[in-house]
Amino acid sequence: MNLKDLYINFFISKGHKQIPSAPVVPENDPSVLFNTAGMQPLIPYLMGQAHPYGTRLCDYQKCIRTIDLDSVGDTTHHTFFEMLGNWSLGDYFKDESIAWSFEFLTEHLHIPVERLAVTVFAGNDEIPFDEVSYNKWLSLGIPSERIAKTVDDNFWIAGASGPCGGDTEIFYWRSEDAIPETFDTEDDRWVEIWNNVFMQYNKDENGNITELPKKNVDTGMGVERTTAILEGVNDNYLSSIWKDVIDLISSISNLPYEGNERSMRIIADHLRTAVFIAADPAGIKPSNTDQGYILRRLIRRAIRHAKQLNIDINSDWELDIAKVLLDKYKVYYKELEYNYNVVLDVLHNEKVKFNRTLEKGLKEFAKATRNNENIDALTAFHLYDTYGFPIELTTELANERGLSVDIKGFEAKFKEHQELSRTASAGKFKGGLAGNGEIETKYHTATHLLNAALKVVVGPDVHQKGSNITSERMRFDFSCDHKLTDEEKHQAEDLVNKWISEGIDVTVKEMPKVDAIASGAECMFIEKYPDVVTVYSIGDISKELCGGPHVKNTSELGTFRIIKEEASSAGVRRIKAVLE
Ligand code: SER
Repeated sequence: MNLKDLYINFFISKGHKQIPSAPVVPENDPSVLFNTAGMQPLIPYLMGQAHPYGTRLCDYQKCIRTIDLDSVGDTTHHTFFEMLGNWSLGDYFKDESIAWSFEFLTEHLHIPVERLAVTVFAGNDEIPFDEVSYNKWLSLGIPSERIAKTVDDNFWIAGASGPCGGDTEIFYWRSEDAIPETFDTEDDRWVEIWNNVFMQYNKDENGNITELPKKNVDTGMGVERTTAILEGVNDNYLSSIWKDVIDLISSISNLPYEGNERSMRIIADHLRTAVFIAADPAGIKPSNTDQGYILRRLIRRAIRHAKQLNIDINSDWELDIAKVLLDKYKVYYKELEYNYNVVLDVLHNEKVKFNRTLEKGLKEFAKATRNNENIDALTAFHLYDTYGFPIELTTELANERGLSVDIKGFEAKFKEHQELSRTASAGKFKGGLAGNGEIETKYHTATHLLNAALKVVVGPDVHQKGSNITSERMRFDFSCDHKLTDEEKHQAEDLVNKWISEGIDVTVKEMPKVDAIASGAECMFIEKYPDVVTVYSIGDISKELCGGPHVKNTSELGTFRIIKEEASSAGVRRIKAVLE
């Protein structure tokens, strides 16, 4: 049985319910590109909302971390990975959590206790030393020399604010060398395999820590890393998870893995992530913005590395690899089965598009660097605009030759170009909406107005929990403990229409994230934003961190009408509305 099945079966035997993996593109949050951790879709429940499946949950969650995109190529980095997790929502706490982790590792994965070491929270001014976890590990047979106490590494929070707490991390001795008696956290032969976070606090945007209504447990274990460890390989790509994919790339290219590792890992990793993005119910297609841009970058980088391995890039190599991935994962993720052909079409079409210009672009690149010149802004932009080279690809090509790229200059050119073609606001390159037609833009601004109106009509505790916009309607999820009365609905509708009729200007400002938060701007997942953010204000009615785009003045919106108000989940209501 593989690790995922063993894990789920184990936690089901401990009274947990398996919850399905959330999509890689967050369903109700246009402000983040991808789900980055198993706990992310569970934040509302960690904050106190009742979960429909109860208080003991487990899952394997698809995660995408693009922050590591450029590191892919080494032995451990992946853009897509699966995270195993088990949660207690105010149910069990440290004692059971630690006991079960220990039982699973030693009795089900058969890891010898001698290869394990742990860290626990050492305590600081605000939160005391985690004596309970310390003693629990001792009682299970982990000697005190193998229990390290740390402060920074043992406090877990997803970003700047939200549910958080001390944690205990479990490490495995991944080396042939003799296991040292004392656990040295600086020795990287000890590899972290599991993180149990005891989420009992909430950190607000001012940094104040308060107790959450319930004491929760949030654990996370990476499937790729743990599988590699159990199989005794030091290169994740040599584990059973990747073996068939690497073997296939090797046979397509007629080259051994040894000596060609980097390109083969990049092709394997990037195509797997591309498969999951393209299969997501959000229907992402390669484009120049947001998730679509990441998808494009992944596919194009994979193609460039295939070319590097002398693969005939016009053959069906990418489809053959994708099929192996689809067949392997569709057992666990149904969308890969439903969207099997969609995925193949996306990969193929993007390849055909890029192949038309790749060769010429590479020649252009060679010409520009023939005397080892660094790449200037104009060349970088030309490669992007004419040959479809994502800036990151140009940078990679340059770096491989020890050259640099004028990225700042490129960005300035990019902005200039965007403004010229009036396609979008400057912030859109970094994040924003999937659809950005005129009507979607209007709905986006209306969403901010509705959010503000509900705060006035229902109360300041209303917060956005999600949003979804199509050219037909907007959908807005918000925290609220009751069904809206007809009067509340009318008042909210009237207020939005009043603001529309007042013709209020919508303004945008770039500022450091910390300043934006300090100024009281609203946002959903603060940790998902870059350090410099765009803040949209509508007069003094609304101020939100947002990638845009928005209309310039509320008078552009027409008439706002709520067509439906219903429950979304416990403590969350959903409004569907139209602009007429
Ligand atoms: N939230 C913790 C992590 O991502 C445990 O799940 O590591």
